Parts: sequence; structure tokens; C-alpha cells
Amino acid sequence: MNLNLNNKYALVCGSTAGIGKATAMALAAEGTIVTLVARNEDKLKTTLAELPQHRKHDYIVADFSNPQELKEKVSDYISNNHGFHVLVNNTGGPAGGPIFSANIEEFESAFTQHLKCNHVLVQSVVPFMKEHNFGRIINVISTSVKQPLDGLGVSNTIRGAVANWSKTLANELGQFGITVNNVLPGATGTERLTQIIKNKSAKAGNTEEEAANTMKNAVPAKRFAKPEELADAITFLASDRASYINGINLPVDGGRTKSL
Ligand SMILES: NC(=O)c1ccc[n+]([C@@H]2O[C@H](COP(=O)([O-])OP(=O)(O)OC[C@H]3O[C@@H](n4cnc5c(N)ncnc54)[C@H](OP(=O)(O)O)[C@@H]3O)[C@@H](O)[C@H]2O)c1
Repeated sequence: MNLNLNNKYALVCGSTAGIGKATAMALAAEGTIVTLVARNEDKLKTTLAELPQHRKHDYIVADFSNPQELKEKVSDYISNNHGFHVLVNNTGGPAGGPIFSANIEEFESAFTQHLKCNHVLVQSVVPFMKEHNFGRIINVISTSVKQPLDGLGVSNTIRGAVANWSKTLANELGQFGITVNNVLPGATGTERLTQIIKNKSAKAGNTEEEAANTMKNAVPAKRFAKPEELADAITFLASDRASYINGINLPVDGGRTKSL
């Protein structure tokens, strides 16, 4: 299948590790010119050097805890370089814990990192997408938008807000050839999952291997996802071939979510 992503420009956030990095690699392999975003410049340089078909890939150092600064950096980049046909909104997940004991600051920082930053990025990239009558906005969220996950109270709450923000945008932007979709990862083998397993094992008083096996057993596929499996779904949604898919939540979770 020709995805027709050659020479398209993509802004891929949270792209020095896990799902974001695998997505940057997959898009670059299709000929997309990728601009990476994350906080750690050394990791950005390392990832940049690993991207296939190295031509004009680039990076922006930015922290999703500061939406105003993120907006200025991305706007400056677009003015001095080029706009983007594809935006992948992705960043680190909120800390875990039960919702009852969550404090106000945790909600505020998760809302800033996930919703406000996604929003300023969309505002920065949409003018170019409208000009080209082509745009793909893909938000990496979580299956918790369909079924809240135990012990991830703040995350469950903020993910729901992001999913509704995204669906509303899909309604508004579809007429300009722009689609807005969400990819919902299940348990995926990344640094974040390692941390979640550590927390579960400490809470349950069992080994990390036992905690991991309990999680795997909850998945019909009986295994964790590879980041590349998420990247493939995101790459398809970024392509021409996904032109009539708009406003959806796509779980990539091995069948773990117990709802339709
Ligand atoms: N892995 C899973 O099982 C799973 C399941 C459901 C949902 N998710 C969600 O999917 C998303 C990606 O997860 P992942 O497992 O791929 O994460 P990850 O392996 O921890 O990678 C996170 C990436 O985001 C960047 N990042 C983190 N905080 C940032 C910030 N404040 N500003 C800018 N960049 C930031 C990191 O680079 P720097 O540290 O250099 O900034 C890194 O490149 C998260 O929202 C996560 O909650 C993951």
C-alpha cells in the first residue's frame, strides 16, 4: 500500500523514547521529513541520527509544562522553516495514584501538559494544513477514554478531556481536509510501562515479573504491545489512505478494552 507520505512534513512530539520515537522512525521510513520534540537535547540528537532516510529531519527542544514557550518555539520554527502536514500530539503520561488522594496541582499540571499543549500546537499547525487542504492530527491518549484504568485517576480524568477536545476539533476541521483522530495504546513496552509495573509490584508486594504477568493475562493477546505496533497505526492514520477516518478513538491494545 502506498501511504503517499513521501516529502510530507511531520511534527512528532515526545519522540525520543517509546511510542513517539517509534512513530518518528516509522514516518521517516515512509519518506516523511520529521521534526522531533522533547526536553532532553542529547536524546533528541541521538534520535535524529537514528532516523532513516536522513535528509532534512530536525528537532525542537521544548517542555510541555510550558504551553506559551512551546507555542513560541513552534511558531518561530514554522516561520523560519516550514509548516506541517502531520502533527502527532504525544508526551509523558501523568503520575499514577488513586483519584481520591490526587491534589489540585496534579490535575492542573496534567491538563497543561496534555490539553493546553495539544491545543497550542494545533493552533500553530492548522493554517499550513488549511492552505494545503491536507492535515492529519493524531493524539496519543490511552484506552482509559473508553474504560477508566485502576490507579490512574488523574490520567483517566485528563484523557477524557483530551478525547472530547479532539472530537470537537474533528467536527470543525474536517471540511478543510484535516482529520483528527486518537490512538489509544494498551500496555506498551516503554519506559512508562516499566515504571507502572514497578508501582504495581510495590503496591501488591509481589515481584515485577509477577506484576507484569498479571497485566499480560488481562490482554487477549497475552503480551504487551511493541511501540512499533502503535507507530504503524499512527502512520496509517497520518497517510492519504486514512482520508475518510475522522474523529475516532482507535485502541491498539491487543483486545484488552472490554467495550465496543
Ligand atoms: N506505554 C504504555 O503502556 C502506555 C499506555 C497507555 C497510554 N500511554 C501514553 O502514551 C504516551 C506515550 O507513552 P510512552 O510509554 O511512549 O512514554 P515514554 O516512553 O515515557 O516517552 C515519553 C516521551 O515524551 C517526552 N516527554 C516527557 N515529558 C515531556 C514534557 N514535559 N515535555 C516534552 N516532552 C516530554 C520524553 O522525552 P523527554 O523526557 O526528553 O522530554 C519521551 O520522548 C503517554 O501519554 C502515555 O501515558 C502509554
